[in-house]
Amino acid sequence: MAIKIGIIGTGGIANFHARNYKEQGQRVELVACCDLDINKAKKFAETYGFKNVYDNCYDMLKENELDAVSVCTWNSAHAECTIAALNAGCHVFCEKPMAMNKEEAILMKETAEKNNKLLMLGFVLRHENKTKSALNLKKDGRLGDIYYAKASYLRRCGFPGGWFGDKSRSGGGPLIDLGVHVIDLARFIMGNPKPVSAYGATFNKLGARLEIALGEDAWKSMTEVDKPIFDVEDLATAMVRFDNGAVLHVEASFNLNIKTPTTTVEFFGDKAGLSLNPFELHTVVDNKLADIEIYGDFKTDTKWTNQMNNWLDAIEGKSKLISTAEDGVMLMKILDAIYLSAKTGKSVDIE
Ligand SMILES: NC(=O)c1ccc[n+]([C@@H]2O[C@H](COP(=O)([O-])OP(=O)(O)OC[C@H]3O[C@@H](n4cnc5c(N)ncnc54)[C@H](O)[C@@H]3O)[C@@H](O)[C@H]2O)c1
Repeated sequence: MAIKIGIIGTGGIANFHARNYKEQGQRVELVACCDLDINKAKKFAETYGFKNVYDNCYDMLKENELDAVSVCTWNSAHAECTIAALNAGCHVFCEKPMAMNKEEAILMKETAEKNNKLLMLGFVLRHENKTKSALNLKKDGRLGDIYYAKASYLRRCGFPGGWFGDKSRSGGGPLIDLGVHVIDLARFIMGNPKPVSAYGATFNKLGARLEIALGEDAWKSMTEVDKPIFDVEDLATAMVRFDNGAVLHVEASFNLNIKTPTTTVEFFGDKAGLSLNPFELHTVVDNKLADIEIYGDFKTDTKWTNQMNNWLDAIEGKSKLISTAEDGVMLMKILDAIYLSAKTGKSVDIE
């Protein structure tokens, strides 16, 4: 039996969901999609072959017997749409960040548990082939004890426009949008340690930088606004402490005066260091410092296919979710603590 799919929110990232569902052929049936902008939803449905189209998720959920729903709305609608879909008996694949804050995230997790449904978070970097290799290196003891890590997602001129700078819809700037990916990845490879405190600072010095042209490949919101609001940070930096004593340094920007934009995580163990981008071990061989470049199937971008396979396998009961609601809640706790610390100037405990 094909898994009956619905998509809520048919903007930019929804295309990645739809394309990857389509690649699964007969395994799925693209039943319905919805967007507040009905014309956008209609065009999306035509492109991918969804049968039914709506301008809200409630009618879509009521009128269709869906098995699984992707939530691809702006962040402030994640909790509402996810909870509605879970209560309608669907498994939910919710885009990152999980929600606007930890309270919403906990409610989403509890709703999934109450309904005995899966709730997957779109931490797509967990599904990179490189991530698997990094986990194997750690498991083989090549890094030793990881006591420090650095997670960076820095853009020089990369504000996506639309709602991304409007705090009431995004919940924040690059920390909640980009930082969330690399913080989660760092935590995942470190073995999901529990965060205990965070100290952070945020800045809004360069603003939206709309006067500077974005690169062709820059992510752009597909939601049109007359003039984007920008009441979020353009840079966030933080230290997160975990219960195993390890510390993670985080930095995330939309706009920063740096030469080379970067997305990477570096791990520092007592046997070796590992950087993900480029993928290299930093160690000692024969009493000499050595940098070892690791080759593999890292260039082809299989992360979306891997993520989709994990999602559908979990629905079919063939495997466990790699990125769970629990992970989403942990991330929201870290983000909330960093934002609070940035406001108060003090370290914030995480329960
Ligand atoms: N996994 C990734 O790498 C990745 C990349 C980009 C964006 N995202 C995430 O995907 C989500 C969407 O981002 P985007 O760039 O596609 O935004 P977008 O602006 O292109 O599209 C968002 C769409 O959601 C619709 N929408 C909002 N509230 C809705 C509701 N209640 N019901 C139905 N439709 C609703 C809007 O009308 C809009 O069409 C965000 O949470 C973002 O963080 C993830």
